[in-house]
Amino acid sequence: MSRGEPMNIHIRPSFTQVTITLIITMIFSSMPLAARDPVSDRSSEGMVSTACSAATAVGVAILEMGGNAVDAAVATGFALAVTFPSAGNIGGGGFMLARMDSGTVFFIDFREKAPLAASGNMYLDLTGEVIEGMSTIGHRACGVPGTVAGLYMAWEMYGTLEWEELLEPSIRLAEQGFTIDSHLASSLQKLMKYDTGYPGLRKFYGENGSPMAPEDTMVQPELGRVLKMIARDGPEAFYRGTIAEMIVREMEKGGGLITMDDLNDYRSLLREPVIGSYRGHTVISAPPPSSGGIVLLEILNILEGFDIPGSDRGRAGVEHLMIEAERRAYSDRALFLGDPDFIEMPLGRLLSREYATRLRNSIGEKAIASSSLGEALSGPYESEETTHYSIADGEGNVVAVTTTLNSAYGSKVVVEGAGFLMNNEMDDFSSKPGVPNIYGLVGGKANAIEPGKRMLSSMTPTIVLRDDKPLLVLGSPGGSTIITTVARIIVNIIDLCMSPQEAVSDGRIHHQWMPDKVYFEKGTIKKSTLEDLESRGHILVERSPIGDAQVIMIQENEMCGVSDPRRGGSSRGARKVVRKGVE
Ligand code: DON
Repeated sequence: MSRGEPMNIHIRPSFTQVTITLIITMIFSSMPLAARDPVSDRSSEGMVSTACSAATAVGVAILEMGGNAVDAAVATGFALAVTFPSAGNIGGGGFMLARMDSGTVFFIDFREKAPLAASGNMYLDLTGEVIEGMSTIGHRACGVPGTVAGLYMAWEMYGTLEWEELLEPSIRLAEQGFTIDSHLASSLQKLMKYDTGYPGLRKFYGENGSPMAPEDTMVQPELGRVLKMIARDGPEAFYRGTIAEMIVREMEKGGGLITMDDLNDYRSLLREPVIGSYRGHTVISAPPPSSGGIVLLEILNILEGFDIPGSDRGRAGVEHLMIEAERRAYSDRALFLGDPDFIEMPLGRLLSREYATRLRNSIGEKAIASSSLGEALSGPYESEETTHYSIADGEGNVVAVTTTLNSAYGSKVVVEGAGFLMNNEMDDFSSKPGVPNIYGLVGGKANAIEPGKRMLSSMTPTIVLRDDKPLLVLGSPGGSTIITTVARIIVNIIDLCMSPQEAVSDGRIHHQWMPDKVYFEKGTIKKSTLEDLESRGHILVERSPIGDAQVIMIQENEMCGVSDPRRGGSSRGARKVVRKGVE
């Protein structure tokens, strides 16, 4: 593939260099996890933080062969589709936020869309009740995928290497295989229970018919073939050609709604990111159809009026303020936010200083009931899977991408002959006003299902600038908890002066308006803090670890990459970068 105008002309190294890097990676990938997965790393040449060491290695290899952060982000995205199949994808969607060294900021929305045949009551029975599982599993749960269009758009705008070169590492990982680590092995183990209904999942099993174990090699020939088609023909192959035909055939087999028209019509979109400020820093984040940036900035705008850095409030006092800010911002999420191409949203008002002051003034020493901000509903809180990666190159370009199939392994539907999973993103719509989705989130008309509409997301790829230079590149998976995870890391670094490692490791507390509960990570918050919060009237619920943040902090040209110790991610710095124009 080639584009009209190359953005940068430079002499590229041969494939030898990237091959050597990948061979080194393969050697590393047979080492024990602790030795090969730096949770944090430093470099001034470039940094890649992802949820998976094999994908990190691909991003680093692209940087080292002279690609920029956008090239690395595209290659890493495809690599995650091979090596992190629970969330990395070509059958899902996501958002890319980037800031180029020139100061140009761009945001690519490659969120899935409801198929044209979708309707507001498609998940309701004749009595108007939500049919359990229909929006979360199987063919009807699938939205029209956006990832291939989005990554291609990024490459067309700012890529400097050839498109095929960016896919080459993932084709190799699919065809030649990669070594499974303990995280992937245990998540495949959990997937097993779905294989009778969704036999395509058996592609993840070993030759003996049982789930793969750590140190096994996962080879995915069908996925390799599909990636080769994308390398050769770009999105045309996925949205119009052979892959599109395979998706439509798969949908017809299982009563799914996605047609050839849906695929032909899909476009990734450039949107204006939301930009705000927090204690002198510029915060750039995801606009609708993500709620991420709006809710994040609402929380930060409220907090900015409190003296957090110098206060003697103690941990519980700060937590109380964060919880109350979150309660208010998430209530606005449910009421107002959705796809900007379908609804009007009062974004100016939600992000105004006056509105933040009003909300701040309503916060006292005690918890208020969420129901006083709207109608009370509570909901379940289930498993989560998405993935975020952050990339910085040595030239000052930074990229934050959050991408997902929604829950782990999406709809569990593997496209026959194509070897990739389809998303279950339709569950991010509000199937019925007030009825919670898998993240316990409720919504109403703003996020109701309509043909061709994008479902509301919480994904929050974010860039924070200090003195007009990137300071933080960050994001996380975690469904509804994504936004509070990002807010906490920003507050930890800017207000509480934590190192990036401390800020990421720090225990997480989350409130999302409904259900009216404060979730805290088991074993991470002091008893005295929890008791103090309870005495203020908060209802506390212990839960499993929250999020899997991937953060890069840049100070005086040194990049510190931090992968969340909660899961198995890896941050790695680039070492010997081949400079543009130098052989
Ligand atoms: O777009 C969203 O907000 C969700 N589909 C994200 C899912 C997610 O983060 C699950 N992750 N752990």
